[in-house]
Amino acid sequence: MRLKRTHKCGKITLEQSGQNVVVAGWVDNWRDHGSLFFIDLRDRYGKVQVAFSLENDESFQLAKKLRSEFVVAVAGEVSPRTKENINPNMETGEIEILASDLEILNASETTPFGIKDYLDVSEDVRLRYRYLDLRRPKLQQTIIFRHEVAQATREFFNEEGFIEIETPILTKSTPEGARDFLVPSRLQKGMFYALPQSPQTYKQILMVAGFDKYYQIVKCFRDEDLRKDRQPEFTQIDVEMSFVDEDDVMGMVEEFMQYLFRKLMNIELEMPLARITYQESMDRFGSDKPDTRFGLELNDITAVFDATEFKVFKSVVDGDGYLGALAVSEAAGYSRKQIDDLIAWAKSVGASGLAYMKYVGGNFEGGISKFLSDTEKARLKEQLGGDGDCLMLVVADTKKEFAQTILGFLRNKLAAELDLIDESKHHLHWTIDFPMLEYSEEDRRYVARHHPFTSPKLEDMHLLDESPEKVRARAYDLIYNGNEISGGSIRIHDRELQEKVFRALNIGQEEAEAKFGFLLDALSYGAPPHGGIAFGFDRLVMLLANQASIRDVITFPKTASAVGIMEKTPSNVSEKQLRELFINIRK
Ligand code: AMO
Repeated sequence: MRLKRTHKCGKITLEQSGQNVVVAGWVDNWRDHGSLFFIDLRDRYGKVQVAFSLENDESFQLAKKLRSEFVVAVAGEVSPRTKENINPNMETGEIEILASDLEILNASETTPFGIKDYLDVSEDVRLRYRYLDLRRPKLQQTIIFRHEVAQATREFFNEEGFIEIETPILTKSTPEGARDFLVPSRLQKGMFYALPQSPQTYKQILMVAGFDKYYQIVKCFRDEDLRKDRQPEFTQIDVEMSFVDEDDVMGMVEEFMQYLFRKLMNIELEMPLARITYQESMDRFGSDKPDTRFGLELNDITAVFDATEFKVFKSVVDGDGYLGALAVSEAAGYSRKQIDDLIAWAKSVGASGLAYMKYVGGNFEGGISKFLSDTEKARLKEQLGGDGDCLMLVVADTKKEFAQTILGFLRNKLAAELDLIDESKHHLHWTIDFPMLEYSEEDRRYVARHHPFTSPKLEDMHLLDESPEKVRARAYDLIYNGNEISGGSIRIHDRELQEKVFRALNIGQEEAEAKFGFLLDALSYGAPPHGGIAFGFDRLVMLLANQASIRDVITFPKTASAVGIMEKTPSNVSEKQLRELFINIRK
């Protein structure tokens, strides 16, 4: 490199007028005006216009070879532009550099897509050439913003006296509900490490070890089906504290959120955040992570139909089921086609059906209205309260939570369809009082909703044997605009209680010993009461940066089929490597 950079492209202003500078970067675009040749040169800090003229014949001739994405260094004098040439859309638009010397540091093939913020190419192509994709200013800004969120996180927790401690990646299965990624051991024939789904057991053990306040920004690995807010490897802000209860952990998180929003977004969050119980959340929103930026709450209309003759509803009411309705005034004018589409969609997400009718000018019309008695209509009218027109959508099912969940999905779908969400809002709230256990049809046993180290509410303990599903956990999730951005709990710090919970989860003593013996042991050597939480860091950044997918805030994300397109992962390995690991690939 002959020319050594003195200034950043995006940082040159009128202040440098008359100075000789050297800038280096990528040719963003070029314009050949015959006797003048212009480029916009781009680096991380922005763009600057460089003019090559015949006055400097050697660099002028060389400049004519420049094409997009060539890497160059240019020496020249900063010169104010004439009034009519000022570009108000460019931060450096008041000046240009009159080139005196040019060094081409590297050429570039024609790129498969332009390095522009708004692109019309498939994500696969973008991911395959991620280094070009990442050159786009918008994506660069997002990755830089991610860095700022990470730094602000460290500032906050350091200031609060937390210690950042690393924990192993080659470890043992941690039960967070997903499948493990396994790593075969070469030295221990036939044995496997698991990549951590979270540092859960380690951070608890760090409390037993007396570290009091721990945090870590850490990679976690879960082999689960991917969605736009899930990646097989993702990052958590992991936190644990000793001698605390729910209020302490939640209070610390609220201060953290306030700090981030103030520092990075200049937004003052009102505290304390609302706390909604799981039950209330399901009843009102059909979700444990509701988007509270809009209303459209669920109505339990089961009682209206306690003596119904309408067969579909009758069988549900007789089966001790639930009838829930959304009354959507904004959809009062929906066409038959729009309603049919909703019905088809509801079936596609698992509903057995979606009943509807319209309430227009004080009367029920269409759909199921003909099956309703006058009393039912009157009671329905009274319960829904409104006399405005609306479309009523009803889900009926013997499983209440299932019906509520469908209505919750529907609520989100309609809000998007009808533009009911004020995107400028930042709504954060807690969901609390989760059931500790849920029945897994797949495993045919109760499983922990959070993880098996979550403490039950002690006042619910007497229910553990009789009605385990009624035991509430000392767990809390933080919800941000309808996304679960973090979850945590007060832990069990008593060995006996931990063993009892394992039994409720149908984890036998032997299995418990084999999987979590080390934790059980640790609990018997003076474990302090403790609790904590973990944030989905990618999700948090995605929401703060107003991005639609966590793939847009991760430098090298995997596709929906968990493939790294650029580097081609996963990939085959050699026979020799397999042999060393004692592995035969099953046909
Ligand atoms: P949990 O499993 O709720 O809790 O995870 C914490 C947060 O991590 C985020 N998250 C994910 N983000 C991206 N891709 C994924 N596949 C993914 N899975 C989870 C979510 C979630 O809220 N050990 C406990 C925490 C604790 O109890 O302290 C845990 O991991 O935003």
